[in-house]
Amino acid sequence: MNKDFIQYQAQTTPHPLGLEVIDAKGSYVYTSDGQKHLDFVAGVSATSLGHCYPAVIKAIKEQADKYLHVMVYGEYAQAPAVEFSKLLAQNLPNPLNKVYLVNSGTEAIEGSLKLARRATRRTQILAAKNAYHGNTMGSLSLMNFEERQKPFRPLVGDVDFIEFNNEEDLNQITEKTAAVILETIQGGGGFIQPKNNYLKKVKARCEAVGALLILDEIQPGFGRTGKLFGFENYEVVPDIMAIGKGMGGGLPVGAFVASEELMDLLSDKPKMGHITTFGGNPLVAAACHATLKTILETALMAETLEKEKRFRELLVHPLINEVRGKGLMLAAIVDSEEIANQVILDCKEKGLILFWLLFEKRAVRITPPLTISMEEIEEGCGIIIDVLNKIKNNA
Ligand SMILES: Cc1ncc(COP(=O)(O)O)c(C=O)c1O
Repeated sequence: MNKDFIQYQAQTTPHPLGLEVIDAKGSYVYTSDGQKHLDFVAGVSATSLGHCYPAVIKAIKEQADKYLHVMVYGEYAQAPAVEFSKLLAQNLPNPLNKVYLVNSGTEAIEGSLKLARRATRRTQILAAKNAYHGNTMGSLSLMNFEERQKPFRPLVGDVDFIEFNNEEDLNQITEKTAAVILETIQGGGGFIQPKNNYLKKVKARCEAVGALLILDEIQPGFGRTGKLFGFENYEVVPDIMAIGKGMGGGLPVGAFVASEELMDLLSDKPKMGHITTFGGNPLVAAACHATLKTILETALMAETLEKEKRFRELLVHPLINEVRGKGLMLAAIVDSEEIANQVILDCKEKGLILFWLLFEKRAVRITPPLTISMEEIEEGCGIIIDVLNKIKNNA
């Protein structure tokens, strides 16, 4: 299968991991060579309830027996999308009470940017250096990496950059600013948390000049940091929130959420200010609803912090400088990029799935399903420590 994968499917890197997947259940992925792999990555923070969580599969099957796509987003009332949006809104602080469903994280960002410009009638967007918000043109415009932007210019205009956690840079937020967009916890940049009430200060400055705060919760969202959304850890509420990844229990999805007052601007002047065919797809929305209900009704969110503690106890080694992040959004920062590469590749051979972060090259990503057990955490961390010992002994 790998040969056809390389030949017929467009590739994103010259060296894909290339596991030949035949099955995946719970915290494990099974491959065609008969191997079982413990998954510490969860499809890059997306399969929050593990692979094929029974309530999600049940919801998908029941919906598949009723109806699939029947109409473009926003025209017909369809129970899965209505029930999911209602449950989500009921569990969010004011004024986040209206949900626009789309198909991916990057689309949620595009919708958020459009809404901010439409609402403020301003154009400037301030994004953070080292941020990642997706790969469509708007999201790519928010990524301050020359190497990544240059081949695709011209991008979306009037985007400027501030440094995450730098309070002096808040002066750049002015009456010209439509929105400041930040990841609540910087992901690709190295799982960096906001410090010293940074997000509160950003929000206050936005309010003072009439700009909006967009928080990208696509990775921290849906329980990964011990709260339903990451911002709840930092006493701030965004004007617009972008979500995706863990929301769909393994199906592709995204959404942006704002107040009714803001969101209604997208349906008037111009009408259809934002439209999508498949947003709110009934199968996907049924999976979202089952996922959210499970996260709300089980102890998974609270257990996330216990599991973080266990990871921190176990991931102690002379080659690990630091474990960054919160909840089950963790990164072991090792001495060098070479060591990070070796850990990820050697662990793969030993049946443990790890992955890189986009920009922080010394990081080993640990974002397992929220359903991972303490025994599985111990098993996986044992493999990491064994591999690190070998690397240290061979140095
Ligand atoms: C913080 C953040 N924002 C946006 C995205 C883009 O989401 P998608 O890949 O679903 O478009 C990602 C994906 O990795 C992400 O981590």
